[in-house]
Amino acid sequence: MKTRAAVCHEANTPWETEEIEIDDPHAHEVRVQMAYAGMCQSDEHLRLGDISPPPELLGLMGLESMFPVIGGHEGSGVVTEVGPEVQHVAVGDRVAVAFIPSCGVCYWCSSGRQNLCDLGAHTLAGPMISDGTWRHHLGETNLGRMCQLGTFAETMVVHEASLVKIAPDAPLKAAALISCGISTGFGAVTDRASTRPGEVVVVVGCGGVGSGALQGARLAGARAIVAVDPVPFKIDQAKKIGATHGAASMEEALPLVVEITQGRMADVVVLTPETLTGDLIAPACQLGSKDARIVATAIAPIGQMDVQLNLFNLAMYNQSLLGTVFGSASPRVQVPRLISLYQNGQLDIDELITNEYTIDQVQQGYDDLHAGRNVRGVVNFGTDS
Ligand SMILES: NC(=O)c1ccc[n+]([C@@H]2O[C@H](COP(=O)([O-])OP(=O)(O)OC[C@H]3O[C@@H](n4cnc5c(N)ncnc54)[C@H](O)[C@@H]3O)[C@@H](O)[C@H]2O)c1
Ligand SMILES: [Zn+2]
Ligand SMILES: [Zn+2]
Repeated sequence: MKTRAAVCHEANTPWETEEIEIDDPHAHEVRVQMAYAGMCQSDEHLRLGDISPPPELLGLMGLESMFPVIGGHEGSGVVTEVGPEVQHVAVGDRVAVAFIPSCGVCYWCSSGRQNLCDLGAHTLAGPMISDGTWRHHLGETNLGRMCQLGTFAETMVVHEASLVKIAPDAPLKAAALISCGISTGFGAVTDRASTRPGEVVVVVGCGGVGSGALQGARLAGARAIVAVDPVPFKIDQAKKIGATHGAASMEEALPLVVEITQGRMADVVVLTPETLTGDLIAPACQLGSKDARIVATAIAPIGQMDVQLNLFNLAMYNQSLLGTVFGSASPRVQVPRLISLYQNGQLDIDELITNEYTIDQVQQGYDDLHAGRNVRGVVNFGTDS
């Protein structure tokens, strides 16, 4: 079947919308008609080559390159066809995507940590998880898909492990943002940092993921929430969804946090700028109190090894430096939970969608993101009546 998709042909070239061919679903695979796709910064990390594994690792994955690749790993839609042996979704089901597939039976899934499923090893690989063959083609060329998904396409064929079934009345637009950015930021604060009522939280980077972190802090009962972002519009937006204070940089936030806490400093610092670099860790730790939790949430270039960190302080202040993938929660638990919070009016999503785009405007959406104009851009496929 033919469909339209935003493809990146090689690193550092723009997203281009192409008519592609998608084969029928094989065993355990599902065809989804997309409703919305959120425009997360991680797709730009893919396009800009930040997350391309080195050639020796690509070789082990049977690949020469990550490209050409269909972008998009945030999204929602409706199941239109299921292949043989599909177990957990049926035609007509509403679904959100999961950028780490979860099999449900590996050690990590069985211990309640679907975000660490062993199938995650395939998330940057090109061919299908089910049988290692390719389902998406542009002429004679096979196409990879961001995170085994490729939500910047009118139709996707994905493994059922990459889908989260949501309620028949689940709002698809909100579900799209919750499927990655909101859940990741929210969980970074609530699940990874275990934020408690009355604590002070600093969120560094107030885009899509940061907006989830700010609201995780609000719903966890933080007494002060400091939004840090160099773009004034992002601070204004952050204050609408729970931030109590704003600062343009971590340096500027330092005296503010001293004042808010009488010098005790913040209990939790979450790092969600567009790119994580080694020079951001030391100032984040400086914003943290004794016993603070510092959560590295943003993506660093894949070979990033050097970090500035005062090791003496890390130990003597009893601080924890934590990583997180998908906010350290299981997609099949977190996504429906956050959709319910949205439906109850407790989680703001609509306010975060600054602009909507067609499938022909994906690069425009990312240009707007880089220019500081979007909290989140969304591709609207026009299928949600
Ligand atoms: N760990 C995970 O599982 C996971 C999941 C999704 C996204 N991510 C990553 O999280 C990061 C954020 O994603 P996003 O979609 O929210 O990006 P985004 O572009 O929407 O937001 C990033 C924000 O950071 C701000 N910023 C840039 N430099 C800053 C600095 N030095 N201090 C403070 N703010 C700064 C920008 O102005 C922007 O508002 C990206 O690296 C993304 O790839 C990680
Ligand atoms: Zn994402
Ligand atoms: Zn698993």
